[in-house]
Amino acid sequence: MTKTVAIVTGAAGDIGRAIAERLAEDHDAILMVDIDFAAAERAAHALGAAERFIACGCDVTDEASVAEMAKRAETLGAVRTLVNNAGAARAVSLHDTTAEIWRMDNALNLEAAFLCFRAVEGQLEATKGSVVNIASVNGMNVFGHPAYSAAKAGLLHLTKLIAVEYGKLGIRSNAVAPGTVRTQAWEARAAANPNVFEEARRWYPLQRVVDPRDVANAVAFLAGPQAAAITGVCLPVDCGLTAGQAELARTFSQSEHY
Ligand SMILES: NC(=O)c1ccc[n+]([C@@H]2O[C@H](COP(=O)([O-])OP(=O)(O)OC[C@H]3O[C@@H](n4cnc5c(N)ncnc54)[C@H](O)[C@@H]3O)[C@@H](O)[C@H]2O)c1
Repeated sequence: MTKTVAIVTGAAGDIGRAIAERLAEDHDAILMVDIDFAAAERAAHALGAAERFIACGCDVTDEASVAEMAKRAETLGAVRTLVNNAGAARAVSLHDTTAEIWRMDNALNLEAAFLCFRAVEGQLEATKGSVVNIASVNGMNVFGHPAYSAAKAGLLHLTKLIAVEYGKLGIRSNAVAPGTVRTQAWEARAAANPNVFEEARRWYPLQRVVDPRDVANAVAFLAGPQAAAITGVCLPVDCGLTAGQAELARTFSQSEHY
């Protein structure tokens, strides 16, 4: 029987790795795509057997590199799931954002998802598969990192564009918007302020930040049969951040119940 394949980009990172691990529960093979091939190999090796977790070096912002990655995926079996997870933020404020940073953040956080989807859309059509885009709460409200955030907002729109145009082919498209997740992406901020997660925690209704496995579970749900009628949505995995802030509700209502 043909093997089912999931592609996870940025799979050497903490969230990508957790997604790869979780999707292995309902896919035969996971193509772990990352620009850092050595790191992808280490992550694949740590997760399990070489025929289940396959490292693939690819720059998702480069069309030729993405085309190679899509060919590689096809050799493994039938691609049922594409997770556009590779992403990064470079400048913290508009004041710090150069034109080059603006373009680089858009290339990685928005355009790459378009390139990867177009490269595997035929394979997804054949399996009636789905794409899950890893956006961010930054694509929904302003929390800093403007170029990254504008790109993530664009990614949410791309999610809907795919859902509407490709729905007739049986392809579903959804997004997950994580809040703060403790990963290597926070290293510089955690080094500058060791209390950064403690400070972040107080803004979250659940009083904690997100774990990579929380994101992975949401991806598995959206990619799986239980979400067969769900397309074009964004599922925040944000411990309640985008619902509101208790501290603000307390000030506005002058009620101690918040
Ligand atoms: N960590 C958070 O708090 C948080 C919050 C919301 C959303 N997210 C999103 O989750 C996703 C994963 O974030 P993370 O925290 O695990 O980041 P991470 O830095 O740990 O991992 C990102 C991975 O992407 C890879 N990558 C970077 N550029 C690439 C390219 N051009 N081609 C291929 N791979 C490339 C990196 O090598 C790295 O392994 C990102 O899209 C990020 O925007 C993260």
